[in-house]
This record gives sequence, C-alpha cells and structure tokens, in this order.
Amino acid sequence: MDVHVIDHPLAQARLTAMRDARTDSPSFRAALRELTTMLVYEAARSFPVEKYPIQTPVTATEGTRLANPPLLVPVLRAGLGMADAALGLLPESSMGFVGLARDEETFEPRAYMESLPRVLTGLPVLVLDPMLATGGSLEHCCRLLADRGCTDITVLCVLAAPVGIERLERSGLPLRLVTASIDEGLNDRMFIVPGLGDAGDRQFGGM
Ligand code: PRP
Repeated sequence: MDVHVIDHPLAQARLTAMRDARTDSPSFRAALRELTTMLVYEAARSFPVEKYPIQTPVTATEGTRLANPPLLVPVLRAGLGMADAALGLLPESSMGFVGLARDEETFEPRAYMESLPRVLTGLPVLVLDPMLATGGSLEHCCRLLADRGCTDITVLCVLAAPVGIERLERSGLPLRLVTASIDEGLNDRMFIVPGLGDAGDRQFGGM
C-alpha cells in the first residue's frame, strides 16, 4: 500500500493547532479545513487529466481538467469537517456518506448510515476521515466501496497509527493513504498517541 506523509511546514502547523488541547472547536475546525485542502492537493497530484481546447484573450490553446473527478466519501461524524474543503478543490465531484461509530468496548465500528452510489466501477474515491486508529472503521468503509466495484481508493487522514496502517495493508483492498502524520501508537482506550483526542468531539462536542 502506498503511504504518503505530507511533511510540509504549513501542514505541520495546522496539525500542531489540532493536537494542542487548548485549541477550541472553531479553531480546530478551521485548522482541519485548511489541512484538508493540503491533503487533497497532494492526493490529486497523481489524478489523470485530459486536455481540451480553450481560447485565451490572446489566442487558442489547450486547457487541462481532471479526466475523472473522484467521489468524495466523508466518514461521519469526524469526516464531515473535511467535506466542504475537499469539495471546494474538487467542485465537479459528487459526495457519498458512510456513518460509523466505534464501539467503546470492542473498538470495532458500528455502521449506522450508508449513502453511496450502487455501482462504483471506474470511479475513483477519496475517503475523508481525520483518524486512522485501529483501522477498523476505514477497513469497513473501504470494503463497502470495493464491494460496489471501486478499484481506486485514496484515504485522506490527519493522523494514522502504525497498527491501523498495517490493518489496511493486510486487508488487500485497492487503496493508498495520504496523511499528515504517522503517530507513535495507541493507548489502552485505542486513542492515537500523541494524537489529538477525539476528532468528532473536538469539532462538534461530546455525545
Ligand atoms: C473515530 C474516527 C474514525 C475512527 C477511528 O470516529 O473519526 O472514524 O474513530 O478509529 P478506528 O481506526 O479504531 O476504527 P468515532 O467512531 O469516534 O466516531 P465520530 O466520528 O462520530 O466521533
């Protein structure tokens, strides 16, 4: 599995704001939006493009556009905070939704919503979720996509734990990962360490 870490000063500064426990919800959401723009920008570097004729004020020339804009799939709740920034850079994209909540005892994901096109053959997908911890949630989400025929999945995360990356690698699913950090590991509550806490709670408040 291809894993790309965005080691850029601006990305790392936004990540630091998100890690800092003193950052309030509005500032956390703003940092997540800005970091998402950078993650999408990096992920899109390898997207295929097509040429088409345009006219500048001076002459005829060739323009460039994405050949196949991806479907965006934020994983609720926390991925919702990445959706608007991703759609801002990819305005031609459609959006699907997957709702998952991690069980606090088994740490396995419980699916509570799924709104996806029935067939995804030939359509690349960008999955948006700030956190890859045990990997259970993203494996579940990516399997839903692969079951619909998707063979080109890019997962965008703010933070990834090594054990979660290994789980996605073992899954054999057709995906690559773009993240701002690979953190040290997980604690006994399966929170990423050093991490940033619970990305859903920090954006939207505790449930
Ligand atoms: C968090 C996070 C991921 C998942 C990561 O969501 O946004 O979806 O946990 O954990 P995993 O890799 O161990 O599966 P959570 O279940 O807390 O739901 P929320 O987004 O509604 O807060």
